[in-house]
Amino acid sequence: MQMVCLPRIGTVAAWRRQARRLLQAGVPGENLVWQTGEPDADLFAAPEKIADADCKTPFTLTKSALTSIETALHHKDPERFARAYDIVARLASGRLRWGDRSDKPLHCLLGQEKAVRRDIHKMHAFVRFREVGSPDAARRAFAAWFEPDHPIAEAACPFFASRFGDMDWIIATPSLTARFENGTLSYEETRNFSPPPEDATEDLWRTYFANIFNPARLMVSAMTSEMPRKYWKNLPEASLIPGMIRTAPERALAMQLAMPTEPSAFSGKVRPMRPAPPDDGNLSLDTLKPALDACRRCTIGSCATQAVPGEGPSDADLMIVGEQPGDIEDLTGRPFVGPAGQLFDSCAEEAGLDRTCAFLTNAVKHFKFTPRGKRRLHNKPNAGEVVACRWWLDFERRAVKPKLLLAMGSSATLSLTGSGESLLQRRGTVEKAEDGTPVLITYHPSYLLRLREETQRRQAKSHFIQDLRQATSLLRSHD
Ligand code: URA
Repeated sequence: MQMVCLPRIGTVAAWRRQARRLLQAGVPGENLVWQTGEPDADLFAAPEKIADADCKTPFTLTKSALTSIETALHHKDPERFARAYDIVARLASGRLRWGDRSDKPLHCLLGQEKAVRRDIHKMHAFVRFREVGSPDAARRAFAAWFEPDHPIAEAACPFFASRFGDMDWIIATPSLTARFENGTLSYEETRNFSPPPEDATEDLWRTYFANIFNPARLMVSAMTSEMPRKYWKNLPEASLIPGMIRTAPERALAMQLAMPTEPSAFSGKVRPMRPAPPDDGNLSLDTLKPALDACRRCTIGSCATQAVPGEGPSDADLMIVGEQPGDIEDLTGRPFVGPAGQLFDSCAEEAGLDRTCAFLTNAVKHFKFTPRGKRRLHNKPNAGEVVACRWWLDFERRAVKPKLLLAMGSSATLSLTGSGESLLQRRGTVEKAEDGTPVLITYHPSYLLRLREETQRRQAKSHFIQDLRQATSLLRSHD
């Protein structure tokens, strides 16, 4: 049996060095006892005794495996070093595949990695500094006490060094104390740390917390999951929480009774900037685009790149109405040119419907989306936005005077028929618009794109093609 002693500071880096040497020497995990701190003299056998001649070919872990293992090594479980060694040994010999969650030790390590990450996240969120330096010192000095679940000081504190690089601080945890002085971060074992007295920062935290708290949106379970009670004793603002929870219902009620309030001063400044509805008399299909671009009848327009007016012959018998431009339509300024448009084109071809003979437009003329990283995710327009944009659709309808309207999807159907009832029951049927123009109701092509199940998708597509065929035959029967 060989004991491997790891220092209390720099434990993970030391484990890595030792594990590499032992693995290269082919030492099986069962022969090792891992320990942090001072060695037990009788058990200790220095790893230096391993002869270089014993070393096997070095083995390289993937970066993500190494990161997971090193993170899990900050867990408090005393078995973590042996478990990690066993896992790396089996990975190196090909007896284990990284990511195989059916392997119990690996499953356990990944669970511990998650627990450590959560602990680090909480430490970043809940460390509260108190000022301790003299006011005229060149650098302000702060101290904090934090009790994490795991010995994570070395993993968590570099974050504070990058955040608070312009001041000196110490963060004491039960095992290690991080010290940041003149831009250098170091660690020492914690001995007799006594928290500094309360300072004005405490009041600042309490004021901030009291002001961001919205009693009408209180969810105690979400709050205590985000800010677990075990951290409360070191959070100055936590003393406010019980009182806030107790008084939340009456404060929320008072807020409701106080409504409606006057519009904010900002709203007063913005309203006059909203363009008046354009003069119907001077507007034509050709001049619609700039007027649409400027439209702020609802808020969607201010985020989109541009408005997308309808396109097609100004005397088309068929007007096809979709929901709203998508990402590509927003960038190109043309309707139905993205993935939904391509699917529409192929179905129309199959149904014998010539897209160029129809006027294609949308119920809503601007793209409504939610930014997610670099992507813009489609966001369905609400009924208010559909109604606000109807003015433009009505204008297009008055100009084109189609004999048949094809409503694709629920937003178009709502706009053209005024009814938001379930589309599934109405698809394939003909209803009437306010002015009596027939409205044939069908799916939106994006609905077909969203269906995951193959049979369902094939069936919906065949219904859609059937509806496009019906549109052409209705037009023919009208002639
Ligand atoms: N979806 C629509 O409803 N309209 C488009 O122009 C593109 C996608």
